[in-house]
Amino acid sequence: MVRAEQPPVAQESQVPPQVVSTWSGQAREEAVQRMFTAIAGVYDLNNTLLSFGLHYRWKKLTASLVPLVEQGTALDVGSGTADLALLIEPRMGAKGRVIASDLNHAMLAEGLKKVDGKGLAGKITCLQASAEHLGFADDTFDAVTTGFCMRNVGDLPQAVREIRRVMKPSGCFVCLEFSRPVFGWLRALYDWYSFRLLPWIGTKVARDTTGVYEYLPASIRTFPDQERLCQVLREAGFRQVSYKNLTGGIVAIHLATK
Ligand SMILES: C[S@@+](CC[C@H](N)C(=O)[O-])C[C@H]1O[C@@H](n2cnc3c(N)ncnc32)[C@H](O)[C@@H]1O
Repeated sequence: MVRAEQPPVAQESQVPPQVVSTWSGQAREEAVQRMFTAIAGVYDLNNTLLSFGLHYRWKKLTASLVPLVEQGTALDVGSGTADLALLIEPRMGAKGRVIASDLNHAMLAEGLKKVDGKGLAGKITCLQASAEHLGFADDTFDAVTTGFCMRNVGDLPQAVREIRRVMKPSGCFVCLEFSRPVFGWLRALYDWYSFRLLPWIGTKVARDTTGVYEYLPASIRTFPDQERLCQVLREAGFRQVSYKNLTGGIVAIHLATK
């Protein structure tokens, strides 16, 4: 794995997660990274259990929207345990390359195990980098993807501008993220699940002490909904911005062109 920079130093105090979701900047980034470091080893299993297996379907659909390119180069931002990087790799052609980038070393280490296990280390590179400062030259990638990362970044407009900067002209950005359910009844059910049941499972069943199960719904609630995210993308200079709701808008895939 390539380390672009050292991960943030962990602080001893536990910050209330509801508060973290409304912060921005460095303090938020450090608190978020402490959570991901703590849960990296169980992240995939938890994702499958808590989303009833849906997360992998959402990711497969996201990858299917990435245009096929011969000898393409793609970047997956906030790649974590590398699911999306693995899914987009076949879309970059036999000689294509994918960079799986993430700020969190522990998450990337889990991703690297999966990449190695599939014999794809020659095609997928795991790289530690911040979404806000990617460190690649302008106009590098045919496609950029991101899954469930954007609501965690400290500075969303900066991350989106940085993603656009590293994309080739006419390159494609595909963003999978939690969003706002479109039906009132689904919103009510989803709120009950995420604000009541999920934290209960987190503390009573998983005996979590990181606060991640409270942070998760709070971060979803404060993230821009479908239309507002379109606006953030347009303000960053993207064109042809559109979105597709999945599972009634619990998640949405945003598509945008440089
Ligand atoms: C919920 S996980 C998603 C992981 C993976 N993309 C997936 O869909 O399973 C969010 C990931 O975003 C990463 N992340 C959060 N803030 C980041 C930032 N500012 N720059 C890069 N990665 C970040 C976290 O370290 C974590 O691995």
